[in-house]
Parts: sequence; structure tokens; C-alpha cells
Amino acid sequence: MALVSMRQLLDEAAKGGYGIGAFNVNNMEQIQAIMEAARETNSPVIVQASRGARAYSNDRFLYHLMLAATEVYPEIPIVLHQDHGNSPETCKSAIEMGFTSVMMDGSLMADGKTPSSFQYNVKVTREVVEIAHARGVTVEGEIGCLGGVEDGHGAGLDGLAHLTDPDEAVEFVHQTGVDALAIAIGTSHGAYKFTQAPTGETLKIERLIEIHRKLPNVHLVMHGSSSVPKDLQDIINRYGGKLKPTWGVPVEEIQRGINNGVRKINVDTDSRLAMTGAIRKVFAEHPEEFDPRSYLKPAREAMKKVIAQRMTEFGQAGHAGDYRPIPLAEMAKRYARETVTV
Ligand code: G3H
Ligand code: 13P
Ligand code: ZN
Repeated sequence: MALVSMRQLLDEAAKGGYGIGAFNVNNMEQIQAIMEAARETNSPVIVQASRGARAYSNDRFLYHLMLAATEVYPEIPIVLHQDHGNSPETCKSAIEMGFTSVMMDGSLMADGKTPSSFQYNVKVTREVVEIAHARGVTVEGEIGCLGGVEDGHGAGLDGLAHLTDPDEAVEFVHQTGVDALAIAIGTSHGAYKFTQAPTGETLKIERLIEIHRKLPNVHLVMHGSSSVPKDLQDIINRYGGKLKPTWGVPVEEIQRGINNGVRKINVDTDSRLAMTGAIRKVFAEHPEEFDPRSYLKPAREAMKKVIAQRMTEFGQAGHAGDYRPIPLAEMAKRYARETVTV
């Protein structure tokens, strides 16, 4: 099965009323962890690579690993998505390489931290939509800004500083034609999202409900959706790590989001925590080991476990075989027809 369009996966998720995790990768072990979790839970898959991931891996390696995934797991529909494209050029290079979906994050300037103007955001996003849709490639835009700077994507304050304005979201979708819309409803990237235990109101759910009411047919995306589980933090700290006390987004709140139009849920930090804890454990308990497989294998297994759990919790489990993938060329024809009728 070839890599497929994200639009199709999200359309199907909307019909079925479930969400799909979008998991970040940088190397072979992470791709394998996601694919094994997908096979175990029979889930469709969104794999995403940031600019940093593309630079780290030399993105041709990453791309060919993804092609290998389509050969080894032919029963699973797989999307390869550019996470946080910072400019039309980044998105264009991803499309040239064969990514089937791109995020143009024009909510920030190309530096990835300065909030941009609405006009700038519309301009760069519209440019990417035109190029991408002509090839059947999906586009995610963002309106409002997430918090956090530790991983280089975010406006630097907490997740409440630049919440999405629902009317602006409507205007943005109409002016750009994006397939999916990332919104800011209180989350931020990285491990240090909240300094206190959640009270049940971590997400600004009223705002989400209003956005979904105004844009019922747009697939909403939640970034910064790691739950930062205490047990994964504890493993890291037990074996010499120094994480400060922190809380992530509770899964039950993500599920409330899914019940109100969230279809794509971005998770990276939980995978990082799982792998790092497993590696630290091997290093602490078996200091005589020096074969990388002795720690990468448990790391891959730990990441697979947390992802399989999220796939089940988000509701995508069991849906891998529900539909036949639509070729990108057919998606391009559909977009062309939509443009004519608008
Ligand atoms: O949103 C950011 C993702 O966690 C990717 O982070 O740029 O460090 O690869 P990265
Ligand atoms: P986390 O840092 O919460 O895993 O968020 C990842 C993300 O939003 C990637 O775009
Ligand atoms: Zn993000």
C-alpha cells in the first residue's frame, strides 16, 4: 500500500467519531514502534517528522524507512506528515520528497517562535494549499499559538497566552481552504505543560465547542497532547534522570476533545519519555552492556506500549481495514472540482 492522504484518514475518523494520534519520529526504532503498535491494535497511522527530525535523520533516510513500513505493514494505511512546516519552502520540499500531508504553521514567523499577523498566516498557508492540493496532498494550518519554547515550536508563554479566536478561525479556513486546523486551547509543547495536577479543566473545552460549532466540517488538531504519565517520569528519575515535577494533558480531556471535533492528536513527548526511561534502566542495571541493541530494543518496546495505549484511547484502534486508500491523483481531482464549485 502506498503512503496515503491524511485528508482521507481524517474524513473517515470524522465519520466514525474517533481521533487519530499523530506520532513524531526521528529514526528507525520510532517508526517500527509506531507500526508495531498499529499492527497490534489494527490502527490507521499518521507518522510525522519535524524540521529537526528531517535534519537529524537526513530526510531521505526517513522517507525510505517509511516506504519500508508500507511494504512490511501492507494492511495499515500510513500518512507521512510534515510537522510544523515553518515556511512554504519547507512544505514544498516535503511534498517533493513524497510526504502525503504538510503542516504550514503560519501562526508563527519562520523562526518558529514569533507570533505572526493574520494576513501573513493566510498568505503563506494559502500558497501551500495551492501547491499541495494540486498534488492531492493534505494541508494542516494553525490559528492561535501554542505555549512553550523548549522544543522550538511555540510562542514562549503558557498555553493560555494566544488561544484561538473562533471567528478568526472561520475566516482563516475560508480564506485558505485548509483540510485540518490546529487550534490553541490551552496546551503547550514539551514535558513541562502544567505545574499542578489537572483539575478536569485543562483544556478550554468551551472554546473548542464554539470553534467546532462554527466549523463543523473542519478537522481540528490538538498539538501538545502528551499526557506526560507519572510512571514514565518515575522510571527516568529512578534511574538517574532529573525531571522536575510536571503534568500533561489528561487522556479523558483529550477524549472530550475528540467528542467535539478533534480528529488529529499530536504526541511526541510521551514517546521520548518512554524511550529514555527504558534506556536509562538498561544503563543502570546492566552497566556492562555496550551493544546498542541491548537498550534500543527495550526503548522501542516501551514506545510501542505507550502508543498502542493511545491508539486505543483515541479510538482509532480497529479501523485500519475500514476503507480502501484513495490515490493522491484522485484526491487532486477532487480538490480541483471543489475549487471550481466554490
Ligand atoms: O512540536 C514539536 C515536536 O515535538 C517535534 O519536536 O522539533 O524537537 O523535533 P522537534
Ligand atoms: P507534545 O510535546 O505534547 O508531545 O506535543 C507534540 C506536538 O504537538 C508535535 O507537533
Ligand atoms: Zn506541535
